Amino acid sequence: MSESSIESILQETRLFPPSAEFSQNAQIKSLEDYQALYDRAQADPQKFWADLAQQLHWFQTWDTVLDWSNPPFAKWFVNGKTNLSYNCLDRHLTPDRRDKPAIVWEGEPGDSITLTYAQLHVEVCKFANVLKQMGVQKGDRVALYMPMIPEAAIAMLACARIGAPHTVIFGGFSAEALRDRLIDCQVKVVITADGGWRKDAIVPLKEQVDKALADDRVPVEKVLVAKRTGQEIVMQRDRDFWWHDLKETVSADCPAEPMDSEDMLFILYTSGSTGKPKGVVHTTGGYNLYVHMTTKWIFDLQETDVFWCTADVGWITGHSYVVYGPLSNGATSVMYEGAPRASNPGCFWDVIEKHKVSIFYTAPTAIRAFIKMGDQHPNDRDLSSLRLLGTVGEPINPEAWMWYHKVIGGEKCPIVDTWWQTETGGIMITALPGAIPTKPGSATLPFPGILADVVDLDGNSVGVNEGGYLAVRYPWPGMMRTVFGDPDRFRRTYWQHIPVKDGQYTYFAGDGARRDEDGYFWVMGRVDDVINVAGHRLGTMEVESALVSHPAVAEAAVVGKPDEIKGQDIVAFVTLEGTYQPSDELAKELKKHVVLEIGAIARPGEIRFADALPKTRSGKIMRRLLRDLASGNAISGDTSTLEDRSVLEKLREG
Ligand code: WT7
Repeated sequence: MSESSIESILQETRLFPPSAEFSQNAQIKSLEDYQALYDRAQADPQKFWADLAQQLHWFQTWDTVLDWSNPPFAKWFVNGKTNLSYNCLDRHLTPDRRDKPAIVWEGEPGDSITLTYAQLHVEVCKFANVLKQMGVQKGDRVALYMPMIPEAAIAMLACARIGAPHTVIFGGFSAEALRDRLIDCQVKVVITADGGWRKDAIVPLKEQVDKALADDRVPVEKVLVAKRTGQEIVMQRDRDFWWHDLKETVSADCPAEPMDSEDMLFILYTSGSTGKPKGVVHTTGGYNLYVHMTTKWIFDLQETDVFWCTADVGWITGHSYVVYGPLSNGATSVMYEGAPRASNPGCFWDVIEKHKVSIFYTAPTAIRAFIKMGDQHPNDRDLSSLRLLGTVGEPINPEAWMWYHKVIGGEKCPIVDTWWQTETGGIMITALPGAIPTKPGSATLPFPGILADVVDLDGNSVGVNEGGYLAVRYPWPGMMRTVFGDPDRFRRTYWQHIPVKDGQYTYFAGDGARRDEDGYFWVMGRVDDVINVAGHRLGTMEVESALVSHPAVAEAAVVGKPDEIKGQDIVAFVTLEGTYQPSDELAKELKKHVVLEIGAIARPGEIRFADALPKTRSGKIMRRLLRDLASGNAISGDTSTLEDRSVLEKLREG
């Protein structure tokens, strides 16, 4: 085994084929169908994507499908003219679709709103005219700092309509994080709300905007404020305006601007473990096609489906699978303001029951939170409308997968475990639910047209079941185009880890993975998190899965700490299920359990019990902070994305 590979130790052999009934009605019905599509795409990727692009509306057709003459900077559908807002709205104003719900919104306090395609079109056109009136021109950047309310989707679509790139900044970020992004992105107008509801409290969004704008370096000229929570806020004359006031005086007529395929659609900031957040740039035509096709095939969209992706629009998942993907397909998209919380442990299941959700897409962190809250909550609700489940964001532990399958899916819904990144624009590795049998913990196979591989640091494919680095060998329409303002960082971060061979560029995703004998991908976590015990490089997810499979453990995060003999030793941070108490006996038992599950090599040297684990606001465990703690170092690096600072304080004391 070479220096640069990662060892894989997880043994998971259960296989879940879709039911015959599901497959019969699905868009892609069998493994053979999938394979045929995949082969066709691989043989001629450009023709494959060009054929699919006919499904969108183009004001002017492209003259080159892919320009890859200046790698790693790709251009797709060169000289094509289209508009994402047109594809999401105007295209659906047909007699059979115009009165179909486009957005079904549920507020945290239980209020709800439905907007049909015709209504959403009017709202978007009006708000696009508001933006123009505020001086926003094609190319000007607009920031959104909003709660999960329909206005967030309306604002995104309005920006797309007039060609003003948006940057959505998650409403949970601090005023400082907001300020840095407004400066980096040179934002002209900010759209916000008085406040938003989160876990039964008001998040004072406008107040945070005021703080961020107090800095002279922030170039923002206007602030547009939607009314949500109704508390008192300060409105600065000639700078701040109420959405509902501005809306009164504008026309509902606003034709979509024909945009060049490669015009910037949005910038979304994503943070790595070091350095300042990167502004990931996505453009119009390729992104539109990619989210359109992935939503259609992976979620097997049918005309009557009610699709609910629980992500906040502040993340790429919200961009691609709450707003643009579902609406481009003319689907009904559910938007929910609330988050899983102890005060309402059944909130997600209520939304499913109330709106008869048929496709449900959420994250492992939410699934684990619900497991902890108890089965009675989902069991008390009618979840029979569900026919398909999805997961995204981090590797899902097989035990959490099984719970999702049994308790939420009633053992009849396929689960699509979807691997992708902010940078990839849309889902890259996933089951197609009617075609590909699933294995708990595996994202299964690449989407047609995606030439994914697992490689060593020389760029050679590794063998079956050997660990390595997840990579993509050919461009795809949804790929990020650059880092905003820093093309060299784009090149360095994603395209230089694997050497260019014979002019071939390979995309480096930063995740460890292996492929099994069926070609299935098993993602093992971020490469930065890999632990090296006595020369064995172990992915975090496998050791964590072993811990979580013990009945006492709710959640686990493992990190390495320096060890004189082994190089690194494993330290496991665990939170316990309801009735279990920390004890030395339990720690011993857990160590033994890991040895039984995966072998002595993975035996944690230390178990640390915790009330909660430090997570990013998108729910990912921040292992680098735990690594600092485990090694007794001061916390280093950026902590602005941490959801709850007190978690870290408690861990330090503990
Ligand atoms: C990283 C990207 C893509 C939307 C949400 C996160 C991890 C994501 C999976 C999955 C294993 C996954 C990877 C990836 N990840 N989905 N199904 N299985 N790992 O977007 O914040 O850009 O994070 O999330 O480590 O690189 P993101």
